[in-house]
Amino acid sequence: MLIMPPYTFLICFVVVIILQENDGCFMESKNHAIHWQKGTPFYAECVCGMPGYNAKHIKWLDSHNQEIDVLRLGTDQKAYTERDNDQVKLYIPNVTNAVSGLYRCVTNFEGQDYSHNYYIEAYEPVTINPPEEQFVLLGNRSLVKCKVHAEDMSKILVSWTKIEEDETRTELTNSAKYDITDDGLYINDVTNEDKGKYTCSAYDKKNLDEVDKDINVKIITKPRIKEVRVTSEPEPPLVAGISRLVMKCIAEGIPQLEYIWRRTDTGDVDNPRWKKEANAIMIEPVLAEDQGQYECVAQSMAGVATKSVDIEVFLPPNITSFPSITESEGTTVQLVCNANGRPAPNISIIFFKTDGDDDVQEIAEDEIIENLSFIRLDKSREGIYICNASNEVNYTTEEMYVTVFYKPHYELKEETIWGWDGHFANLSCEVDSNPIATIRWGFTADYPRTHPQIDPDDYMTKTLSVTLAKYLPVNVSEEAHSLYGWYECNATNHLGLSTKKIHFQEGHVPPPIKNATVVTVTATSATFYIEEPGYFQGPSVHGYIGEYDMRETFNITNIHMNRSWSVDRPFTIDRLKPNTSYLVRFAAVNQVGYSEWCEYMEFETLEPSAPGIPIWKISLDVLSGEIVNVTDTNQALSWKMSDSEDAPVDYYKLRYCPINEENPCKEQKVEPNAELKTDFSILDHNTTYFIELVAHNNVGDSTPANITITTPAQVAGPVHRLSAGALIGISIVVVFICLVVVDVLLLLWKRQGMIANCCCRKKKRIKKLEDKLQTRDKKGLLKDSRDAAERSPNNRPKEYEYNKTTGVITGKHSAV
Ligand SMILES: *[C@@H]1O[C@H](CO)[C@@H](O)[C@H](O)[C@H]1NC(C)=O
Ligand SMILES: *[C@@H]1O[C@H](CO)[C@@H](O)[C@H](O)[C@H]1NC(C)=O
Ligand SMILES: *[C@@H]1O[C@H](CO)[C@@H](O)[C@H](O)[C@H]1NC(C)=O
Ligand SMILES: *[C@@H]1O[C@H](CO)[C@@H](O)[C@H](O)[C@H]1NC(C)=O
Ligand SMILES: *[C@@H]1O[C@H](CO)[C@@H](O)[C@H](O)[C@H]1NC(C)=O
Ligand SMILES: *[C@@H]1O[C@H](CO)[C@@H](O)[C@H](O)[C@H]1NC(C)=O
Ligand SMILES: *[C@@H]1O[C@H](CO)[C@@H](O)[C@H](O)[C@H]1NC(C)=O
Ligand SMILES: *[C@@H]1O[C@H](CO)[C@@H](O)[C@H](O)[C@H]1NC(C)=O
Ligand SMILES: *[C@@H]1O[C@H](CO)[C@@H](O)[C@H](O)[C@H]1NC(C)=O
Ligand SMILES: *[C@@H]1O[C@H](CO)[C@@H](O)[C@H](O)[C@H]1NC(C)=O
Ligand SMILES: *[C@@H]1O[C@H](CO)[C@@H](O)[C@H](O)[C@H]1NC(C)=O
Ligand SMILES: *[C@@H]1O[C@H](CO)[C@@H](O)[C@H](O)[C@H]1NC(C)=O
Repeated sequence: MLIMPPYTFLICFVVVIILQENDGCFMESKNHAIHWQKGTPFYAECVCGMPGYNAKHIKWLDSHNQEIDVLRLGTDQKAYTERDNDQVKLYIPNVTNAVSGLYRCVTNFEGQDYSHNYYIEAYEPVTINPPEEQFVLLGNRSLVKCKVHAEDMSKILVSWTKIEEDETRTELTNSAKYDITDDGLYINDVTNEDKGKYTCSAYDKKNLDEVDKDINVKIITKPRIKEVRVTSEPEPPLVAGISRLVMKCIAEGIPQLEYIWRRTDTGDVDNPRWKKEANAIMIEPVLAEDQGQYECVAQSMAGVATKSVDIEVFLPPNITSFPSITESEGTTVQLVCNANGRPAPNISIIFFKTDGDDDVQEIAEDEIIENLSFIRLDKSREGIYICNASNEVNYTTEEMYVTVFYKPHYELKEETIWGWDGHFANLSCEVDSNPIATIRWGFTADYPRTHPQIDPDDYMTKTLSVTLAKYLPVNVSEEAHSLYGWYECNATNHLGLSTKKIHFQEGHVPPPIKNATVVTVTATSATFYIEEPGYFQGPSVHGYIGEYDMRETFNITNIHMNRSWSVDRPFTIDRLKPNTSYLVRFAAVNQVGYSEWCEYMEFETLEPSAPGIPIWKISLDVLSGEIVNVTDTNQALSWKMSDSEDAPVDYYKLRYCPINEENPCKEQKVEPNAELKTDFSILDHNTTYFIELVAHNNVGDSTPANITITTPAQVAGPVHRLSAGALIGISIVVVFICLVVVDVLLLLWKRQGMIANCCCRKKKRIKKLEDKLQTRDKKGLLKDSRDAAERSPNNRPKEYEYNKTTGVITGKHSAV
């Protein structure tokens, strides 16, 4: 049997030639059964090797015993021949089922027919066509595809070989790890070692045909998103219009992942403001609308993974409406501050009451009003309201004004105004209202006057037409008396009317005082009780006047001393002579003038008296008769000036009487203008004295103020013996003096030693100060002067003066 696989066509050719030579001219008929692969050309030669034999006697017959022609162009021949000198070749360009059959090469040699029979049967070749590169999923059972195509699968042997990196080959067999199937090789529980080169082979046992293919197997892993990392700049929270948002999808998977971003809440898959880069997406700046849920999709051939993240974008608060309110008193209004922002802002409303003169005055904390509060309007609610909306991002404020309309309001509904000749009276109808009220004045006379010099209605019309309607000025005179009467002002605005009545009345001086009595009297003063005059027509009494003189000399002149008091003062006359009789009379005073004098009354001042008892300035417990221990003869005890209403103290007398001793008492005088104190230096030591202190005036002595003291024992005399401590002290002093002397000598001789050091340090300190000043120099003054110093020939460091209060630095010799 002659086997001619397609790729062994040349070998086949050689075999045929050899066969022919061996046979010589084919002396006998031969049969060949040939399996020929479909779609491939078939080619055979027929030769007779006998010398001189002409090949024209050789012909090829097909299965219908028809001679196969040579190739003719333009015809569709399934087979054709080619002739040479000594051979005829058969070509079948395309072996198919249709051309399968018997092909015979026949000849007649020396009268004898010979034939070589080729029975050609087309067969379908076994094929495999696996992808050259394949991926298996780590950790799973994965298939390395290699599908075998063959007519008769039962005749096919599939085998797999793994080619290690060092080119060693291992035949794979069905095992726990591998399942070899017609579809390919299943690898169970793929590990990283399973990657590499594999060869898939299929052997056709029937047609002895074999194919193999190398497959490069790579490991892949499923995508896995570890996290979607959100960063912002500046720090979170994200603020609309300001922050930059970056979301990064941290994922792993082989082969390289492909990232897709989308918004799950809106379904958006793209936005012109999204800047995508590799696994990240950036939005700058974020806007309010960027709040939402985002999803990262990481995908590869191994699978898809998604993870979503919620993005919150904060918005600074924005007050969208906080309208001003203008309403009438008594209505209830709601304060509404509408604000938006994310997170929703906290709202508070602060009330600032405005004064008349536009001064803003802060109200206490408790005037913070809740959003949406209802307030009942009255005058006190008028003012500026500030709404403050704040959230985590920022705060904002908005102000509005509440205007309250209220009906005219008079402080006093009724008022009496006094007028008197020569006085300028101003009748006021000042009214508080919003909006401004119009005022109408009216007049009713107290009693009709027969011939008034001035007609009140005329007067009002004229006066009010040229001045502010609120005030009616009246310059009271004899002629203006007709203007006395009842005035009425009606103030009106759209909310109502308010009326004020002003009784403009002629005012009079008070009536004479009916009752005045002496309350207390001393040697030099008298205090009176004065009974207020009862009701009278006129402004109230605001003071009293008293006129007084000594009875003895009363009739000598009619000019007397006087004294006036406002109503709230004690009515006291002082600097009177003691033991003297006086006459006094009183009159009451109001704006209009003085009342008539009342009757004279008489009183007598008392006899003058001796001064009051002086008081020692010592602690209270000693006062109760205990002995005061004087510790030092320089110590002194002082006392308070005695009160002497009638005659001034002219001196103080001290008497020191030793107790238990025969020694006489010692006396001392102290002028009242000197310091009021004792002088113990005149006393003996270690003695107890009883001291009497007496104040004296021209009337006599005061009661004595007594005290007992003990003077200290005499201070020890000159030192006789030195204690050990004193000796050490003296030694230290002597050593120190010696050191100082040595140091002074060193300073004079070698300019060394402590003192010299101190001087140097002084210089250093000056230098340090300079350095400090240089760092503080703001005006460049120093720099210039230093330059100047460097330029100066002797290069002497310059001195500076620093003025602590002004901070100005000047050269010591400069003219600043
Ligand atoms: C061979 O013939 C078959 C069937 O007619 C055709 O499909 C195929 O393409 C041909 N092959 C060649 C190489 O001409
Ligand atoms: C991997 O294995 C798991 C469990 O055996 C299976 O559920 C999954 O579908 C497998 N994945 C693939 C891509 O074959
Ligand atoms: C605040 O709100 C007003 C009115 O709605 C709007 O005109 C304005 O642009 C907003 N301001 C900010 C900063 O959002
Ligand atoms: C204040 O009132 C307005 C109007 O109802 C409302 O929109 C807003 O959310 C309120 N603010 C707060 C902090 O309650
Ligand atoms: C808003 O008010 C609440 C409750 O009073 C408070 O806890 C929160 O801190 C406030 N927020 C801001 C931004 O002031
Ligand atoms: C808060 O708002 C004010 C203006 O209302 C602005 O000047 C300030 O910069 C803002 N602060 C922040 C942190 O945004
Ligand atoms: C003021 O108002 C009262 C009450 O309405 C009225 O009786 C009076 O006549 C008015 N007076 C003037 C001066 O308008
Ligand atoms: C004067 O006033 C005093 C003190 O109130 C009173 O005691 C006395 O009776 C009054 N005298 C007269 C005459 O009213
Ligand atoms: C003063 O003179 C008048 C009349 O001459 C007399 O009535 C009165 O008593 C005299 N007064 C005194 C205090 O002498
Ligand atoms: C003064 O000294 C005496 C005796 O030592 C003592 O009894 C007395 O209490 C002392 N007085 C005061 C005020 O200390
Ligand atoms: C002071 O002493 C004198 C004479 O011993 C005595 O008359 C007087 O009452 C004493 N004064 C006081 C306030 O004790
Ligand atoms: C003080 O006097 C008392 C008695 O008069 C005497 O006992 C005492 O020794 C004296 N003290 C001194 C320090 O002289």
